[in-house]
Amino acid sequence: MINKVVIASGPTVEPIDPVRYISNRSSGKSGFYLAHEAVKRGIGDICFITGPTRFIPKDVRVIQVETALQMREKLALEYRDAQVIVMAAAVGDYRVAEYRPKKIKKNEDTLTLKLVKNPDLLAELGRNKETSQVLVGYAAETDHILENGRSKLERKNLDLLVLNQVSDANPAFNVDYNQVYLLTSGNSKQLPRLDKSEIAREIWDEIYRLESIKNKEI
Ligand code: CTP
Repeated sequence: MINKVVIASGPTVEPIDPVRYISNRSSGKSGFYLAHEAVKRGIGDICFITGPTRFIPKDVRVIQVETALQMREKLALEYRDAQVIVMAAAVGDYRVAEYRPKKIKKNEDTLTLKLVKNPDLLAELGRNKETSQVLVGYAAETDHILENGRSKLERKNLDLLVLNQVSDANPAFNVDYNQVYLLTSGNSKQLPRLDKSEIAREIWDEIYRLESIKNKEI
């Protein structure tokens, strides 16, 4: 029985100074459709933690964040009593080492910014989750996609990996159609090129299947 799901979506934004930031091109569509599908399936508590995006679903509990560290803080408050956690967010891998509280002036011809690594939120969830919880992650790979995907699934202790094959024919980001593989520990399923809302349906079918297997085991 799935009563609560936590979905992290959208890009994160890392400020440099009061007017500048580092971010990425994630539209937030994948997370949006996943949440929309969760509403259709009648899940009672849908916690939607999102970076800045215009794709905010209706009938969900929205928690807006900007940075990776803020997303981590909200996930920590919400993930424990959820049966399903989905990391569909494009979490920025780096943030500036030192935020400049005053606008940086263009005095010099070059400017070097020191970046430090953000924590891997998905890997942290993989380390801390209960065995009864279904943890879903995303990956984008260009080469050796199935080998790399399988190693990510194991390394991050995921139950399901939504694997995007990124190529010129399938850009995966900021588009409506996508071609993905669904990887679980025992199986890999290649989906045809589908609309992101149809992909969300397939992902939820897989999540329900995994959840029911886990509950039988317990
Ligand atoms: N993710 C995360 N925290 C980060 C970076 C990524 O939780 N700091 C999550 C994303 O939400 C997504 C998955 O990790 O679910 C994407 O992983 P990806 O960046 O493809 O994998 P990495 O293990 O970082 O490997 P790579 O070196 O291939 O980028």
